[in-house]
Amino acid sequence: PEYDGTRPFFFKYRDYFLTMEHLERMKDVPSFEVREDDIWIVAFPKSGTTWIQEIVYLVMNNADTTKALQTTIDRRVPFFEFRMPGFKAISSLPSPRFIKSHLALSLLPDQMETKKPKTIYIYRNPKDIVVSYYSFFVKFLTYTKFTGNFEDFCRLFTEDKVHNGPWWKHVTEAWARRHDDNFLLLCYEDLQADLDKNVRIVAEFLGKSLTDEQVARIVKHCSFDSMKNNDTVNYEWLKDRGIARGETSFFRSGKVGDWKNHLSPDIVKRLDEIVATKLPEDFPVKDTLS
Ligand code: PPS
Repeated sequence: PEYDGTRPFFFKYRDYFLTMEHLERMKDVPSFEVREDDIWIVAFPKSGTTWIQEIVYLVMNNADTTKALQTTIDRRVPFFEFRMPGFKAISSLPSPRFIKSHLALSLLPDQMETKKPKTIYIYRNPKDIVVSYYSFFVKFLTYTKFTGNFEDFCRLFTEDKVHNGPWWKHVTEAWARRHDDNFLLLCYEDLQADLDKNVRIVAEFLGKSLTDEQVARIVKHCSFDSMKNNDTVNYEWLKDRGIARGETSFFRSGKVGDWKNHLSPDIVKRLDEIVATKLPEDFPVKDTLS
């Protein structure tokens, strides 16, 4: 359903995942309590969410990769607004809970502001996001409906019409929170440039002290190739359930700047314009690894 104008709603959601009615309930979900010791991982889709989920889990579990390999990531770090596992299941998890969300910060439960759980937000350049998003949304998942081509999808992204958009508003909200004590802003391209350093930043933020050996184990376990071949994080299990297509992969390219192989000059121009005009002036978008 279209938004009826009864609240200042700025984010576009498609019916495949969330109905508007469902979304309206996110701010105050009956019987769902945010906890002070929760750890929330928030990102616009395809920005490196899964990467941070696995890093956070390992940091909080003393780099116990054997333990991580026993359970799929969607159970260890459940998806807040998705129907599986759902609020009831997340509510019954012991503390500290690790919770993933693709909702913009302003759409998360109001209790986030009073309970102030630690929140890690990761952002990525929109050019690689749109390529990754199309691959995931249109080619990987079987239950999404999109009849246009790649260029159409990119254009919709630049018109703020894709699920979870607008991207620029999502990240601008995070930028405004970057100095908050309970908030850590990370960048996909920085993780690519120096994963070791970023694992240490996450550990410090979460109040965990890790040995160099533990950090090295996390870095090795969280490389692109290692995660791509790890059946507890690569979402291959969705294929058995008919939710994803066999010939595609959630771990697609894992590169910075792969957009150069895919985007048309028109889309590049539109995205550059969004970065230049809609983001805060000092917001560092890195669309190449230089
Ligand atoms: S989702 O579905 O929104 O939660 O997707 P998300 O996890 O945010 O983003 C998926 C993209 O992140 C890439 N990725 C990685 N890149 C490098 N190294 C590691 N370890 C890694 N883990 C995930 C993943 O490959 C997707 O990007 P693309 O560009 O499609 O490869």
